[in-house]
Amino acid sequence: MKQANIAVLAGDGIGPEVMQEACKVLDAISTLYSVRFSLQPYLVGGIAIDNTGSALPDATLRGCEHADAILFGSVGGPKWDSLPPEQRPERAALLTLRSHFDLFSNLRPAKIYTGLEHLSPLRSDIAASGVDLVVVRELTSGIYFGEPKGVEGDGEEQFAFDTMRYSKREIRRIAVAAFEAASRRHNKVTSIDKANVLTTSRLWREVTEEVAADYPQVILEHMYIDNATMQVMRNPAQFDVLLCPNLFGDILSDECAMMTGSMGLLPSASMNATGFGLYEPAGGSAPDIAGKGIANPIAQILSAALMLRYSLNMEDAALAIEKAVVSTLASGVLTKELCNSANLHSAALTAQVGDAIVNFLIEGTT
Ligand code: NAD
Ligand code: IPM
Ligand code: MN
Repeated sequence: MKQANIAVLAGDGIGPEVMQEACKVLDAISTLYSVRFSLQPYLVGGIAIDNTGSALPDATLRGCEHADAILFGSVGGPKWDSLPPEQRPERAALLTLRSHFDLFSNLRPAKIYTGLEHLSPLRSDIAASGVDLVVVRELTSGIYFGEPKGVEGDGEEQFAFDTMRYSKREIRRIAVAAFEAASRRHNKVTSIDKANVLTTSRLWREVTEEVAADYPQVILEHMYIDNATMQVMRNPAQFDVLLCPNLFGDILSDECAMMTGSMGLLPSASMNATGFGLYEPAGGSAPDIAGKGIANPIAQILSAALMLRYSLNMEDAALAIEKAVVSTLASGVLTKELCNSANLHSAALTAQVGDAIVNFLIEGTT
């Protein structure tokens, strides 16, 4: 029997609530596909600070190193916001994991499924025109990691600085990931930059053009980030793969998530060159709804599906989960944030959405 060791890092806020549903779905998959998952929980984020003093305890890092993949929830929240930046859960846990495992390639697929256009906040004719894109975000460099960064000086002359920095090697490998993704999709890469202002963006364009020469069947276009944030709302059907530096991809992917209906729908895969990956919702710990049992677990469940696809070579199981998610949404089992005033009274709880997905999964595969 196939066996896979998954490090489960639920984290803070809604993390544990949505992770429970993802584990439920993985349990169903193990029965349906004769695979044994060892789902090993580890502390991470604010809760790890509270329990051990560190957002990424040694035991957690070792556990991840020995796992076949990492399933991650979310970290951070108001309780830990006043810590020094290097100790905060976001940097000390999440960014450290990305960097430690060299998870440079972040895929964030956003799709409006036929029949689910009504969930989108876009005008109905635009939602109906078809949204099916993937943000390919560079995840281990750029302004997030560039040195130097810091604060110097005093009084009104005090200043803070970050460094946006990209090497040709870093740009090339994420551009290759984007062109590979486009080759398996609709053969179009839109590379997002700010080349009219930023030096890093000009190098980004140069290297992206070089990579494009190896993919003659793929169309490459360049678009400024400000225009792109507008274009994804005006005419999202024009996009296939959006190739983004770290910060622009962060911003654009939240916008793409919301186009499909909710922050709680967008999964993500963060991978290194060996295929090892960390899988997590694009959204965060949602402190405003945590603890109420109303968070949407779908982004976490779809992240588990991406884990099956990219790290565990279980494409059939990944597709089955994705299909069960669409059936669940189409059947009207919706968490509160997807409801409008007309159906708000019948909003489903986090666990009810998880149960519905498991039921559709069993129905669809037996
Ligand atoms: P957020 O994504 O947590 O929340 C933004 C909005 O989206 C909120 O209104 C929230 O309720 C809603 N939302 C997000 N996920 C949802 C879900 N599954 N179901 C229903 N609604 C959902 O972003 P934020 O409020 O800017 O950040 C909150 C905390 O999370 C911060 O500490 C931030 O640093 C952290 N964060 C962590 C991650 C991560 O761990 N990967 C990602 C983003 C933000
Ligand atoms: C994301 C998050 C993270 C990021 C934060 C929590 C560091 O917003 O995964 O999109 O900015 O990359
Ligand atoms: Mn983000």
